[in-house]
Amino acid sequence: MGRLDGRVAFVTGAARGQGRAHCVRLAREGADIIAIDVAGPVEGAHPRPATPEELAETGRLVEETGRRVVTARADVRDLAAVARAVDEGVERFGRLDVVVANAGVMAGGRLWELTEAQWDVCVDVNLTGVWKTLRASVPHMIAAGNGGSIILTSSAAGYRGYPMSGGYGAAKHGLVGLCRTLAVEVARYNIRVNTIHPNGVRTVMGRPPSPEALKAIGLDDHDLWMFGQVTASALPEGTQEPEDVAATVAYLASDEARFMTGTALQIGAGNQLM
Ligand SMILES: NC(=O)c1ccc[n+]([C@@H]2O[C@H](COP(=O)([O-])OP(=O)(O)OC[C@H]3O[C@@H](n4cnc5c(N)ncnc54)[C@H](O)[C@@H]3O)[C@@H](O)[C@H]2O)c1
Repeated sequence: MGRLDGRVAFVTGAARGQGRAHCVRLAREGADIIAIDVAGPVEGAHPRPATPEELAETGRLVEETGRRVVTARADVRDLAAVARAVDEGVERFGRLDVVVANAGVMAGGRLWELTEAQWDVCVDVNLTGVWKTLRASVPHMIAAGNGGSIILTSSAAGYRGYPMSGGYGAAKHGLVGLCRTLAVEVARYNIRVNTIHPNGVRTVMGRPPSPEALKAIGLDDHDLWMFGQVTASALPEGTQEPEDVAATVAYLASDEARFMTGTALQIGAGNQLM
């Protein structure tokens, strides 16, 4: 028996990395999955986009667990597309219990040197995209009347100053405010809302650029020193696997966390201690 038997989870950014791990883990816990991803380039963001094939592979991995899945290509900046995907998933599976707003992009640089496009893409995807994800899904959770759990993927850059992360850090801090507001609004429906704050995760986004590559984009030794300070971890191993984050997500989604709402869970190997 799984902790999420009979429940339905909606995950954004599901084609690879943490989003894929969340889909598979929540399915193993018994949930049917609605999985969306832009599965294509996001202008101004990370140069290696996810692909439709990767999203399909997530679907295959979920089916392998014995659970049902619907996958759709949708950009979290497009409210109509996100709403269509969630509506279709809820129509098929009959309810919605868990939302994991995980899709995110990074466009780095010094705050005062960012282009407007770099700022906009970070805020549009990482903050407004999460609001659109919630706008499309929370009404279904309320309508189903079963309570539920909403997990927003923030970052260590969402609780401390993180150099060279520009609009990313501002958006990830913004998720904490969004979480707290929503948590008090939906508490009456027994829906819980929490943010998670990983530090380094072994994914395409988490792959650290080499010091040479950082120097090539104009960072000096002081920048590199500061970056090292801010990203340090207390535990011996600082970089976690997507599956480690998925274990936290599964816990928050489950009834074991039924008294947790409005929290900002720091899961960065003690990064906040450094
Ligand atoms: N990797 C890390 O070290 C790290 C640390 C802290 C927080 N995070 C956060 O974790 C989350 C997952 O990132 P990841 O590490 O798995 O990186 P990743 O780049 O491997 O995966 C991100 C996924 O989000 C999708 N995506 C991007 N923009 C989208 C959009 N507009 N609409 C729909 N889907 C979109 C991508 O296509 C990709 O599949 C992100 O929110 C990221 O900011 C990552």
